[in-house]
Amino acid sequence: MLTQTIAQYSATDFASEVRAGLTMPGQKELPSKYLYDEVGSALFEVICALPEYGLARAGARLLRLHAEQIVSRLPLPVAVAELGSGTGKKTRWILEALARRQRTTYFPIDISPTALAQSEKELGQIDFVSVVGFERPYLDGLLAAAARRHPGEHLLVLFLGSTIGNFDRLAGEEFLREVRRILQPGDALLLATDLEKPLTQLIPAYDDPIGVTAAFNLNLLARINRELDGDFNLANFRHEVRWDTQERRIEMHLHSTCRQTATIQKAGITVHLAEGETIWTESSHKYQTEEVVEMAGRTGYRCVAQWVDVEWPFAQSLFLAEMQGA
Ligand code: AVJ
Repeated sequence: MLTQTIAQYSATDFASEVRAGLTMPGQKELPSKYLYDEVGSALFEVICALPEYGLARAGARLLRLHAEQIVSRLPLPVAVAELGSGTGKKTRWILEALARRQRTTYFPIDISPTALAQSEKELGQIDFVSVVGFERPYLDGLLAAAARRHPGEHLLVLFLGSTIGNFDRLAGEEFLREVRRILQPGDALLLATDLEKPLTQLIPAYDDPIGVTAAFNLNLLARINRELDGDFNLANFRHEVRWDTQERRIEMHLHSTCRQTATIQKAGITVHLAEGETIWTESSHKYQTEEVVEMAGRTGYRCVAQWVDVEWPFAQSLFLAEMQGA
């Protein structure tokens, strides 16, 4: 039906975040959100098609199988806001189930205009669904979406794809609290989390044999070369995946295979790397179902239902915002 984009996102400073991450004493890091430029987003789509990466299919399967049940537990009428719209494929099931009951406004929120355009194209044609996209960071976009709902209309926030796994556990909880502050009692949050599983299943999902994830990771350096006038020699890095037992997370690193130097003109820095030193590019925390329920309780929600995939341990959890904000 109607499609509209509210663009107002002022690019967070890629250059200054790269400078901060690469000049840190000790472990060098780069923020994982920068993995998703046009090339990175296309590579991530390929990752989702890999047999080893069961995560994306599990999340989509749960929504396809249980959309009716999920929607039947929501307070109506409800508008839908999605944090990180991605391609919008998984969201279709929820919107179709809702549109059978009510006219539905869908607010995709993404800093990537490409992702927004894709979800608008994918979902804008569903009958009784209007799309209003926000090209903004998650919480800014959610605030703007919440301001646009009609009196008496609830909000369902979708945080799918287990993006919360990119946050450290405490930061993830803080993020849920911040979302709760924007919500009203009775509003809902559908939260996807990847669950702990045997390492024989988990590691190949992040270190696939044909090297798509390696390309996805290395593209971050290529992006720095392209956009910030860097001179990283990608042949001197390899993709490295670690499991941190203590933190229960997968880590992606870029491992320097020799002692080397790179200059990034637009960040105004020269980076020195020792042989074997790494740049940490992403964390992907894995959860337990009970842990997610407890997290809801600590952040101002009640977890009213969970759907878990049997093939690839993964959970969709439905939280309702409680009376008292946390
Ligand atoms: C999109 C954050 C869920 O952590 O599994 C895929 C990103 N990184 N392969 C994840 C990712 C490497 C992905 N998330």
